[in-house]
Amino acid sequence: AVLEAVEAGIEHIIFVVSKGQDSVRAYFERLPDLERAIEAKGNTKLLAQMLAIPKLAQYSYVEQKRQLGLGDAILSAADAASDEPFAVLLPDDVIWSEAATTGEMIALFAERGRPVIAVREVPDERVSSLGIVDAAEVADRVYTVSGMVEKPALEDAPSNLAIIGRYVLGADIFEALRQTRPGAGGEVQITDALASMIPGGVYAYQFPGGHVDVGRPLGLLQASMTEALRRPDMA
Ligand code: G1P
Repeated sequence: AVLEAVEAGIEHIIFVVSKGQDSVRAYFERLPDLERAIEAKGNTKLLAQMLAIPKLAQYSYVEQKRQLGLGDAILSAADAASDEPFAVLLPDDVIWSEAATTGEMIALFAERGRPVIAVREVPDERVSSLGIVDAAEVADRVYTVSGMVEKPALEDAPSNLAIIGRYVLGADIFEALRQTRPGAGGEVQITDALASMIPGGVYAYQFPGGHVDVGRPLGLLQASMTEALRRPDMA
């Protein structure tokens, strides 16, 4: 997700983490003791890989104090995001695409000036675990959204077009989130906040390429296999 954001031209990454997720920070920051130890062993390749990660972008960290859902997690980053448009990337959704999906969505946001979400068709059995949209295609891969519902029962779902974890939003989403009461699962849902913005326009981008949800054990395995097969030295 970080590489995708950087490829899309994003320079500042805000991690929203909960207590006990310090390993995220440790991964992205310099670790002088470990660097010295690796250098002493002469493993220059590994050292170069380690040193590249902290240089990819500027990083900040926000702790989400309460487990009140994705909408609340995004709201907790409001100060750090200041008043600029921003992208939300849920790193358990891994996307393989020629052009960075986030970058394509930023271009669409620049054109339309309204929220942009990523979507893909999913099989019936995934519908009740995801946000689902009612949408009409207006250009190649671009849809206008007329309805959004978080984790509907299959019989209530307007389509099989599901929200995948990429959003490009303006700062006006924060006010919408403040107005949003807890929804599905008792959590503040970004889907509900976005649904309230439909009258002014919400767009969906059906990204090309592959996608895996690594939040599920089989998905994690599938993502590892896919990534390995893409690498000439492993395939
Ligand atoms: C979140 C969103 C949901 C979206 C999903 C994509 O759900 O609320 O609308 O479809 O991410 O991964 P979560 O996976 O956090 O339950």
